[in-house]
Amino acid sequence: MPVRLGLLSTARINDEILLGAAPSDAVEVVAVGSRDRARAEAYAQQKGIPCAHGSYEELLSDPEVDAIYNSLPNSLHVPWTLRALDAGKHVLVEKPFDRRPAEVARAFDAADAAGLIVMEAFMYRHHPQTKRLRELVAGGSIGELREIRSTFTYQLEDPTDVRLYRELDGGSLMDLGCYCVSGSRLLAGEPELVEGTQLIGGDGVDVHFTGTLRFPGGVESRFECGFDSPPSSTLEAIGSEGSALVNEPWACSEHAIDLHRGCHTARVELEDADRYRLQLENFAAAIQGEAEPLLGRADALGQVRTIEALYRSAEAGAPVAPASA
Ligand SMILES: NC(=O)c1ccc[n+]([C@@H]2O[C@H](COP(=O)([O-])OP(=O)(O)OC[C@H]3O[C@@H](n4cnc5c(N)ncnc54)[C@H](OP(=O)(O)O)[C@@H]3O)[C@@H](O)[C@H]2O)c1
Repeated sequence: MPVRLGLLSTARINDEILLGAAPSDAVEVVAVGSRDRARAEAYAQQKGIPCAHGSYEELLSDPEVDAIYNSLPNSLHVPWTLRALDAGKHVLVEKPFDRRPAEVARAFDAADAAGLIVMEAFMYRHHPQTKRLRELVAGGSIGELREIRSTFTYQLEDPTDVRLYRELDGGSLMDLGCYCVSGSRLLAGEPELVEGTQLIGGDGVDVHFTGTLRFPGGVESRFECGFDSPPSSTLEAIGSEGSALVNEPWACSEHAIDLHRGCHTARVELEDADRYRLQLENFAAAIQGEAEPLLGRADALGQVRTIEALYRSAEAGAPVAPASA
């Protein structure tokens, strides 16, 4: 039996989930809820979703729904995850979960108490390219890891985008830099010291953010993200004997890793895969007790502690330590 999924909002990102779910036997999108009934109905008809609800509460009380895909703006992730858990639903919550560690811990506490699954939706983590990069770095293919560099930038043209609103917890670190933080932590563990600088724009959010993460053992990660620069998406691990470079590490569109050692370069080609489908299938398997969620409490807390510390550092103008576990 597929997990019956309800979409919490008519967000644009839902399209990827609908595409990932369509060929999969693991999940079926059975309902959508919107703040506006007419919008829910039009959306359901357009996307071929059987049931439309005119409020989020109505979606959460639908007994035909097993799990919720929470694609609300960032500031609403935790409040509506808590309400979904309270209604007995598992939740796949979009990245970034939140910017406050205590709120993320609260969501996982509620899930544990209810025996339900909560997972943060970092789709790139489910792609074979990401798993292979981690194996190569951990397996010594570039020698001892020394440095990580990453970027995620593009030009955000729409001044009304949710990402530019402070009250919705917008900002480039929340939207884009969270990937650089995730990729760095995947390769190097949890940082012990972080430093951030931000450029404020929009409705008082960071439209550009640069960060440095220092890990135990001396590994350093530097990243840059922003809504104000030409598109750039890269993740590079540099070691004592070589480096591994991934272009489009978050979209996984090249599905290849360039390994450099001395003056030799080898391209490690990976199979193409739909990362949204893989994410849904892992979420469904976790709900059915067949697999661990790839991204559980520890990862989500590592993310939010790092993000919170980066913002704290940017405000203070000095390096700070993330809150300890
Ligand atoms: N994993 C990925 O690849 C990926 C990619 C893009 C975005 N995301 C994440 O997905 C989430 C949504 O991003 P998006 O770009 O898809 O958002 P979006 O298109 O702006 O949609 C957000 C939806 O939230 C609902 N909403 C509730 N309160 C709102 C408010 N005060 N203002 C605006 N909308 C409100 C609206 O749905 P109703 O009107 O129907 O209620 C709206 O359609 C974000 O957390 C983002 O970080 C993830």
